[in-house]
Amino acid sequence: MIRIDFSNLMQNSIGKSGLVSEDFDRIDIERINESLMQRKYPELEFLDLHKADTSRIKELGKYAGGFENFILLGIGGSALGPRSIMDSLRPFHNFKNKPRVFIYDNVDPATLKNILSLIDLKKTVINVITKSGSTAETIASFMIIWQKLKEQSLKAEEHIIVTTDPEKGNLRKIVDDHGLRSLPVPQGVGGRYSVLSAVGLLLAEAIGIDSDEMLKGAKDIHDRCMNPDLRQNPAYMFASGLYLMQQLKNRNITVIMPYADRLKSFSEWFCQIWAESLGKDGKGLTPYPSVGTTDQHSQLQLWMEGPEDKVVVFLSVEDYGADMEIPPVFQNMEGLSYLSGHTLGELIKIEQEASEIALTKKGRPGITIKIPKIDAYHLGQLFHFFEISTAVTGLLYGINPFNQPGVEEGKNLTYGMMGKKGYEAKREEFEKYRQQKKFEI
Ligand code: PA5
Repeated sequence: MIRIDFSNLMQNSIGKSGLVSEDFDRIDIERINESLMQRKYPELEFLDLHKADTSRIKELGKYAGGFENFILLGIGGSALGPRSIMDSLRPFHNFKNKPRVFIYDNVDPATLKNILSLIDLKKTVINVITKSGSTAETIASFMIIWQKLKEQSLKAEEHIIVTTDPEKGNLRKIVDDHGLRSLPVPQGVGGRYSVLSAVGLLLAEAIGIDSDEMLKGAKDIHDRCMNPDLRQNPAYMFASGLYLMQQLKNRNITVIMPYADRLKSFSEWFCQIWAESLGKDGKGLTPYPSVGTTDQHSQLQLWMEGPEDKVVVFLSVEDYGADMEIPPVFQNMEGLSYLSGHTLGELIKIEQEASEIALTKKGRPGITIKIPKIDAYHLGQLFHFFEISTAVTGLLYGINPFNQPGVEEGKNLTYGMMGKKGYEAKREEFEKYRQQKKFEI
């Protein structure tokens, strides 16, 4: 089970920049409990994903796993979760295993061209993921691949697996019209809360990760995160701690710093859920992705002596599943020989704690999440824990943590310029803006 150490948020540890226990009395935890229990937002359905039956996902995972290549088309919540599962649990997968996985989550033409030049479509399965079924970026690349399949007389129903809304949307219609294989994203589960649905689990199964193990992890942490007692509930404590740090101590930035290369993509997944869920009505917390030890040599200086606006969330790993001893070479060089006899695992763990202590001594707050092992079970816990924590933080701010109204305007302007019906006024606005004089040198 993951464990979370909150001591470095507290005055006992970091002095006056920390919180005192009474600060947590300000949190109206009854209101939060009620919101979760009564499913104040339909999107709280993500809370139930750990109970899902994975048999169809497993069946299609096995099917997809039989191909030489697996292309995933999706963006935002439809790509960051699957990528983070793969990078965490199957690092370097593509170097030695099939299917080789390509996650295309942009509309950069050079990337898609590169991917297509590396694969033989005949030996490729394409998992197109879009909950809404209409995201321009995903649909554009899907249209290109659809056409390429046609040009090669390949059957879409053999090469495409669609992950989308169970009933609505353009993609569901395409599934029905063409008899495509498909998996549902439950209606009440929003993109960035969907990693433990077919969105993340199909890829997991295709590359040999047991999705049930991930859901078991989620289930086990779920019960702890539903505890109505604030001080016994890790998600409530995480959300409240960061919320209070912002409200009382002006700590607006949440740094996430896993000490594991494998969790680098997990940082990116966290940044999306944290940013898109909380940044509303002038409120929110800014996520900041990082990885230890690497960013000790890049960012740590700023956190130690720069503006006092951050809380550093360390993810420390107890068992890396591998270790390497540093051999007794360069023994006559005092500046290097001290390393001999130690292991890399020892060094990375010591460095994590050393950064924690150094920040603490400076009165800079932090939280440490201790992960026994990076495996499917604990990754499932991490995802579910951070999803609940994010939703709860949003509830504390009194904002809706499940929508993203701020991204609409850019989409509408794009629709206008790309000629979508009904968006003509947006096109005019766009063109007018282009003609305006710019302060350009
Ligand atoms: O979290 C969200 O809802 C978004 O980031 C979506 O995942 C993203 O916009 C992609 O949406 P869709 O799955 O509908 O293509």
